[in-house]
Formats: sequence, C-alpha cells, structure tokens
Amino acid sequence: MADETEKGQKMWGGRFAAQPSDIMEAINASIDVDQRMAREDIAGSRAHADMLAATGIISADDNAQIQQGLETIEGEITAGTFPFSRALEDIHMNIEARLKDLIGEPAGRLHTARSRNDQVVTDFRLWTRGALTEASEQLEALQVALVKQAGTHTDTIMPGFTHLQTAQPVTLGHHLLAYVEMLDRDRGRLGDGLVRGNECPLGAAALAGTGFPIDRHMTAAALGFDGPMANSLDAVSARDFALEALSALSIAATHLSRLAEEIVLWTSAQFAFARLSDAWSTGSSIMPQKRNPDAAELVRAKAGLITSRFMALQSAVKALPLAYAKDLQDDKALTFDAFDTFDLCARAMTGMIETITFYPDAMRKAAAKGFSTATDLADFLVRELGLPFREAHHVTGRLVAMAEAADMDLADLDMVQMQSVEPRLTDAIYSVLTVEKSAASRTSFGGTAPSEVARQVAAWEERLNAEIGDPDGLHA
Ligand code: ARG
Repeated sequence: MADETEKGQKMWGGRFAAQPSDIMEAINASIDVDQRMAREDIAGSRAHADMLAATGIISADDNAQIQQGLETIEGEITAGTFPFSRALEDIHMNIEARLKDLIGEPAGRLHTARSRNDQVVTDFRLWTRGALTEASEQLEALQVALVKQAGTHTDTIMPGFTHLQTAQPVTLGHHLLAYVEMLDRDRGRLGDGLVRGNECPLGAAALAGTGFPIDRHMTAAALGFDGPMANSLDAVSARDFALEALSALSIAATHLSRLAEEIVLWTSAQFAFARLSDAWSTGSSIMPQKRNPDAAELVRAKAGLITSRFMALQSAVKALPLAYAKDLQDDKALTFDAFDTFDLCARAMTGMIETITFYPDAMRKAAAKGFSTATDLADFLVRELGLPFREAHHVTGRLVAMAEAADMDLADLDMVQMQSVEPRLTDAIYSVLTVEKSAASRTSFGGTAPSEVARQVAAWEERLNAEIGDPDGLHA
C-alpha cells in the first residue's frame, strides 16, 4: 500500500470534521480484496462515461479525457505500478482518485448518475461471469483426463461396491465415466449461473435510480449483459447470482472430493488398485516406505471449505433488509476464495488422473472376491431353469454359504456340491461365474459391459473434441 498511515481527505469527507480511527479504516477498507476487480471496474466506468456522453449528460470532450485517463490507469494496473491506497477504501475510489490526479476536473463528472452500490455489483457480476467460465473449463480438462483413462480401461475389471462391500464386477472405464457424467452436470449448473446472473445493475445508482436521462440498455449491452436489471432496489442488493455460483461450485467440489476419496482408498496398500505418479505423491519424514496422496486428501478437505464460503455468504445475505448494506462488501472475499480454491482442486485432480497408474491384476483379483458373481448365478437360475427370482436368490444364498464355509469361491464348488442345493444345475453354470462374463453380460444402456463402456467413451470423445474444437484432442 502506498500510504497505509497517511490519511488524505476522504472522497465522502465533506460533512466530516475528524478522520476515522485506524481500526475503522482497517475494518472498512476492501482494497486488498477488490483490487482484483480493477479491470472490471475500468470496463464499467468506460461504458458509463460513453453512455453519459451519448445522452448529453457530460460533454464529448470530458468523455474523451476520462477514456484516456482510464486507459492510462489500466496500463498502470497491468504494469503493477498503480498506487493502491488503503485510505481510499476500495477499488472504485482508488481508480477515481487516480483519474483525478491524471485528468483533473473531468474525473469528478464520471460518478454522475451512479453510486458505488451499483458500481461494485456490476464489477462483481462481470468478475463472476469470468470465474464461472474458467471453472467450467477446468472441469472440462478433468473430463478429458477421465475419458482418456476410461478409454484405456473399458475392459479392466474391478469390484463394484455398495456400502463399500463388494457387490458386482464392474469395469474401471465405467467407474471413471460416472465422474465424467457428474462433472458435466456441474458444468451445466455453472452455466445456469451465467444465464441468470447476466443482467446489468449499472444505473440503479444508490438504490432508487436517477433523475438523469441515462440509457441503461446502452451500458448493459456495452458490458455484454443481456439487459439491465429491471428493479433498482433489486439491482444493488441482490447477491443470488453469487450464491448460485457458489452453490454450483460447492456441488462440483463435492464431486471432486468423492473422486479424491476413491484415490485415497485405491492407492492404499489394502486396496492397491492404483499408484499416483511421483509428481502427485508426497513422502513421510519418518516412514520411508510411504507415498501419501496428500493432494487428494486436500481436495477432500477443501471441498468443505468451498461449501463453507457458500454458507457464509448465505448467512450474510439472509437477514439483510433492502437495499445495500456494507455486509455485502464481504461477498467478494468469500467468492474469490471459493473460486481460487476450486481452481486449485480441479487442476490437482486433473494432474492426478492424467498420471495415475492402475493395477488391473489387483483390481480383477479383488473383483473375484466376495462372491461378486452371486447375482449372475441367481439370474442364471431364473433364465435357464425358470425359477422365480426370489427362489433363485435363496438357492444362490445357500451356495454362497456353502462356499464361504469351505473358504472357496463360488466357481470352486464342484457339480456334486452345486447339485446338493439345486439338482437341476448343470455345467453351464460355470460360464456365468467369472468376473469377465459377469461384466460383459451387463449390456443394458448405461451398463458396465466393455462394449457399452466403449460406446460411451466414443460418445464422450466426440462431444469433448467438438467442444474443445480439436478433433485429435482426446487422442493426442
Ligand atoms: N466497497 C464497497 C463494497 O464492496 C463498495 C460499495 C460501498 N457503498 C457504500 N454505500 N458504502 O460493497
């Protein structure tokens, strides 16, 4: 900060005789956070000044000077030479004060027919628009990584779980594609936020609109909004666009966390289904054998942090009477933090998935344990012997109990043992008891059969390649 201790005359200082206390200034200043919206603030000011000139509220000459000054300021911000000052509270007053230094009197005309209340939320909507787009792109990169792995593992057999108990054999490709589906809905939700949030508050002024003959449609269009917000009180006080963005982000982070949890499980010595690359593992300072999945664990923890940002903003907004209140200043720190954290998590997940090594043998072996083909046996009894499913379930249960008592797999029971439970059973039963047969039989739409998974992989490749605009994107 250029002048942490110096306190110049406040922009709003006309009616005050004394300066604010240091702590007042510390709690009130938001420049450390909202300087991130400098570009959006300048874009908003440029659109506003153009509109003021077009409607004859300021002269063309004043506008030319304002535009010139704002361009200079943008250059200073890019170069990192802009003199940010905490005494000037926020990004809006920092830029306006600098504009006055640069061009003098015309700078004072820029704030005609607007207030910081509509200005800040215009900046914030513009920023959130960019952040939503970027978050969606990060999720797309993770989808690409997952689809690539799924394509390599369309017929890699692993145990499918319910209650984390072995349930039925599934394919790894199928399992990974489940996340591709989740992430796609996440991207849809982030996109919904873009649609509803894309209305322009600028020109609502402090809360009630203005008597100046402004053209809100013009500024809205210049800033790429679909149109001006229809109610000025709503325009300055609504934060549901940020809540919607954060709730979509929380759900997406929850999905990242679930995948992270699977990586933690799969890379453990007990599962040993996968190994993270060196770049995505950490060692222990005391146990030399350790390869810890720290990044996955941190994604798991940070999903909670992102959700907490949603909850904090919701708590801040829920008891606010209309229209603006300073509580709303804290919306930005929460939102920036959530998006920054999310960006880190999504990139880490993509890095892990791109470089993870799966161990198909260990997965197959685990899939064969726990009587995972018992359902196939029951289905066989229904199909081949015409048993009602409930009876088939019972017969299968007795065979499982027999195998378990003998510490064997179902396929290890001989025909004598099989027929002691169901005399009509024949040798054909062995053809359905392997994990490969089991998985291959599940060809229903969305099922785990390698043929079905290959079809889904191809569909995703086509879609993502079209989105990325690179026909070889997924085959590179
Ligand atoms: N820094 C403020 C914020 O982020 C700008 C709006 C201030 N408005 C006001 N009436 N004090 O919310």
